[in-house]
Amino acid sequence: MANSISNGFGFATWTSFIEESQIRALLKYKVKYYFAGGKPGIIPTDIFADILGNLSAKYKENPKLALEDLNYGPTGGESWFLKTLAKRLCDVRGIPIDCETEWEHVSITNGSQQAIYALLDTLIDPGDVIITPSPAYLGFLGPAEKLGARVITIPTDLDGIIPEDVENAVEVAKKRFGKCPDLIYVVPDSDNPKGTTLPMKRRQALFDIAEANEILLIEDAAYAEIQFKKNPKPIKTLDKDNSRVAYLGTSSKEAAVLRVGYSVLPSNVRDQVLKDKGYLDLCTTTLVQRILDEYYRKHIDEAMRVGIPRYKERYEAMAKAIDESFPAGVRTDPTGGFFIWWQSEDKKFVAKKFLETTGIPNDIIYVPGTPFYPQSGHRLTKDNKDVRPSLPEDNTMRLGFSYAPPEVISEGIERLGNLLSKELG
Ligand SMILES: Cc1ncc(COP(=O)(O)O)c(C=O)c1O
Repeated sequence: MANSISNGFGFATWTSFIEESQIRALLKYKVKYYFAGGKPGIIPTDIFADILGNLSAKYKENPKLALEDLNYGPTGGESWFLKTLAKRLCDVRGIPIDCETEWEHVSITNGSQQAIYALLDTLIDPGDVIITPSPAYLGFLGPAEKLGARVITIPTDLDGIIPEDVENAVEVAKKRFGKCPDLIYVVPDSDNPKGTTLPMKRRQALFDIAEANEILLIEDAAYAEIQFKKNPKPIKTLDKDNSRVAYLGTSSKEAAVLRVGYSVLPSNVRDQVLKDKGYLDLCTTTLVQRILDEYYRKHIDEAMRVGIPRYKERYEAMAKAIDESFPAGVRTDPTGGFFIWWQSEDKKFVAKKFLETTGIPNDIIYVPGTPFYPQSGHRLTKDNKDVRPSLPEDNTMRLGFSYAPPEVISEGIERLGNLLSKELG
């Protein structure tokens, strides 16, 4: 039923039960110590300036090309860009597609956020079941709940989601809801929000569970390129016939925030996702695909060679400052990505309230852990035989090290640590 409002028309029901994304809400604050959204702080701006300069000259010389690039294009992306990405996905990540003949398996979306939304939109009816880690990326949870999914959250440790619990959750979903889950969602490389990386054994186990139960596994590889050491192979490498895993990449973290995501989806899934995209935005801007095509063909390796050690430096500055100044608690130890997750030993601590009363007035922003838990989801009971309403762990926070330079991180985290120590004794 629609919500009615005073001027006569009604808003859709979801508007009353889905809260604004915490990250969007926090973007409005300009503070000195920014540890909130996953904003890339190291963008190779000189490379992009050169690409834009060359492109501008090319367009002046060749107005026909300019007319094409400033026009509508195919919904799933331009063929030349798909070929470039297919080659990189094969050569660097080992994704099992033939980049000469199967480049059409790659699709472009307006950020990987659009791929997430379209996947959910095309696979989920109200009441369908989805399995996610606890905590999970809020940009996945929000749309899943908006579309009426039942989200079952699975415990995680310092290696990420625990496959045995996923297996138990599949059985509980069948028993309790009369449905096998439709989706399992994971971020295997330096997860958002915890920063954990799934070992190969767990990747294999998740793939096997998805195969055995005919579930689509969404592998969100947003941070796959931002790695301080070599990671296990993508889960997608196990999906030899491209039928079980929806693999999502994004240029946002490894290039620039030009709103371009790229995915490899099973063909029947891709057809539905592109049908949805056709109605969401018709197509992704060709101009940005042209810019990124240059970047992925010629510059990404050098940009990563320079950029990754700088992200690592920021991570080390943050980890050191947490260890030296925070009160009792546990932090994760990421080997890439943008985030560290910290949990206070004090169960009564509420990170959201502390942010409002103390963090922001002291020029500091982080993302409280609460929105990384579904608002009305389910969690497994201790005996793994049933589910209960999921509960957020309010004493947690996600600290982003990607945006601020190391010296600002050291100073800001020390300041936050002192404030926390004063609060928590
Ligand atoms: C895990 C994860 N997936 C997807 C996204 C969305 O990325 P984009 O829409 O910029 O490609 C993000 C952004 O922070 C993310 O952290």
